[in-house]
Amino acid sequence: MKTIYLIGFMGSGKSTIGRLLAEKLQTSFMDTDHYIEEKYGLISNIFKNEGEKTFRSYEEDALKSTKEYDVVATGGGIVETASNFETMKNNGVIIYLQTSFQEIHQRLKDDQNRPLWSKGLEENKKLYKARISKYEKFCDWKIITDHKASEEVMKEILKKLNV
Ligand code: S3P
Repeated sequence: MKTIYLIGFMGSGKSTIGRLLAEKLQTSFMDTDHYIEEKYGLISNIFKNEGEKTFRSYEEDALKSTKEYDVVATGGGIVETASNFETMKNNGVIIYLQTSFQEIHQRLKDDQNRPLWSKGLEENKKLYKARISKYEKFCDWKIITDHKASEEVMKEILKKLNV
């Protein structure tokens, strides 16, 4: 089976939907953030102590190390490293979970755990805007997730995949 990669902004539901998909398909699931935290500790500490550049190198390595999994949820910044595109493209199908800024803002308004989401509204908007075109470029196809329950998004993915 080709690996199903879920990409999209923080809070777009990649981990929740990935887990649901894997359960439904009775197959393996991995989350690159989880992989990194198991190996190197909390992401917030990595950003604080080692910086974003080091985090991105851990992320690149995590993506290469999770190729054997059938469903992989990626971190929102996976599109910041060009080689990650090749890794995913050569090994599977890349699905972009597209969520509006308003909905992300609503979902993450109390979140304290994401270092790149704690810089204030204007910075968050800027990051969101900059990321959209990257997700569009990386993905094979996208699914709009606004106002949809995770189950519904998962079913849409299965339909599109013909399974
Ligand atoms: C990041 C997204 C996070 C995590 C890290 C950086 C980003 O993952 O990898 O905090 O650059 O967008 P989620 O998208 O799972 O929140």
